[in-house]
Amino acid sequence: MRSIKNGRMTELGLGSIVEISRNVYSVGTVDKDRRLFDSLVPLPEGTTYNAYLVMGKQKTALIDTTNPGFEKSLEDIIREVTNPADLDYVIMNHAEPDHAGAIPHMMTLAKNATLVTTKIGAKMADTYYKIPADRTRTVADGDTLDLGGKALRFIEAPMLHWPETMFTYLPEDRILFPCDFFGSHVTNGFYDDEVKDLIVHAQEYFGEILMPFRSMAQKALEKIKDLQMEKIAPSHGPIYRNPERILEPYSRWANGETKQKATIVYVSMWKSTEKMVHAIAETLTSDGIEITEYNMASASLGDVARDLVDSRAIVLGAPTVLGGAHPLGLQATNLVKVLRPPARFAVILSSYGWGGGAVRQIQETLGPSKIEIVGAIQVNGPPSDNDIEGIKQLGKTLAKRIKEEK
Ligand code: FEO
Repeated sequence: MRSIKNGRMTELGLGSIVEISRNVYSVGTVDKDRRLFDSLVPLPEGTTYNAYLVMGKQKTALIDTTNPGFEKSLEDIIREVTNPADLDYVIMNHAEPDHAGAIPHMMTLAKNATLVTTKIGAKMADTYYKIPADRTRTVADGDTLDLGGKALRFIEAPMLHWPETMFTYLPEDRILFPCDFFGSHVTNGFYDDEVKDLIVHAQEYFGEILMPFRSMAQKALEKIKDLQMEKIAPSHGPIYRNPERILEPYSRWANGETKQKATIVYVSMWKSTEKMVHAIAETLTSDGIEITEYNMASASLGDVARDLVDSRAIVLGAPTVLGGAHPLGLQATNLVKVLRPPARFAVILSSYGWGGGAVRQIQETLGPSKIEIVGAIQVNGPPSDNDIEGIKQLGKTLAKRIKEEK
């Protein structure tokens, strides 16, 4: 890792220019203060908006840009190695503003630059960033762009996680630039081996962003499986100089491989639902099932999403409030619905004061999913000893189903 101006280097090379291969530079920006992504996903340590500069003998390309508000930082970082006005190409792997938000700024600075993106990306570049067709070059799977001694190759990877997404590959340096794919919201390391628990963060990112598109992820992994890769340089988080470290778990996650594990997500008002949840948690644990348990009143959605990536079962617990599920229980159910985790089985536990409704609403919400509801128990008021016994029996049935399933 080499910095161009040591005075600008942060401790680990983030937010400054770093040469990651000969004439290939990381020019990403760091947003340590951001606390939410998509107004939903918690970012405890912020995130990075990675961008890369590839300088051939004749042409220079910028791969992805940055989030709105960081345009000047990106410009200043690039200026340490070249004049941004001299850019020949801006590659848009993905149109979402955290990577493409500075495209208008860069295209204004570099008056002769061409935006390179997929056909759908070109339409989005017009809609979002007002880049006209005569400044855009559309590329398809396998197209290349010669920079002189270095040639970028484009790999369409749609729905990861927008319809226009593509990867860019640089064969001369064996680097893949996959934008969001393989990303993580990590700001405390530049290379993968500098972050001990990186794969935990990457799993959370996969759960939040890519889990609903597992079949498209499988197709993309198939497309890149024969590429020679010395580095994978995503647009959030550290660069992998040990690509296998992320390729192996991505293969498992994309294939929907689950463990003998249940994620329990619940909310309780007067501890009745909580007692029910704890009863099934004890049974599952004593039957050898790994469990993770989240009270929605305090849980991070990111943690829940991470555990849904490899859980074979989900337990949803929510009391009835005003004829339906408690709003936080419904939020958990909706999260399961939209993230489409690979879980095969679910159990619903609920208590009510004077009229039920939560179980029906949760069942209806999960209806279109492929998750089999193994059982649902609702009790009036606090669970009796008999109720607890019934929940334990249901727990044993669930544990058996989890173990039988491969
Ligand atoms: Fe990191 Fe889909 O943007």
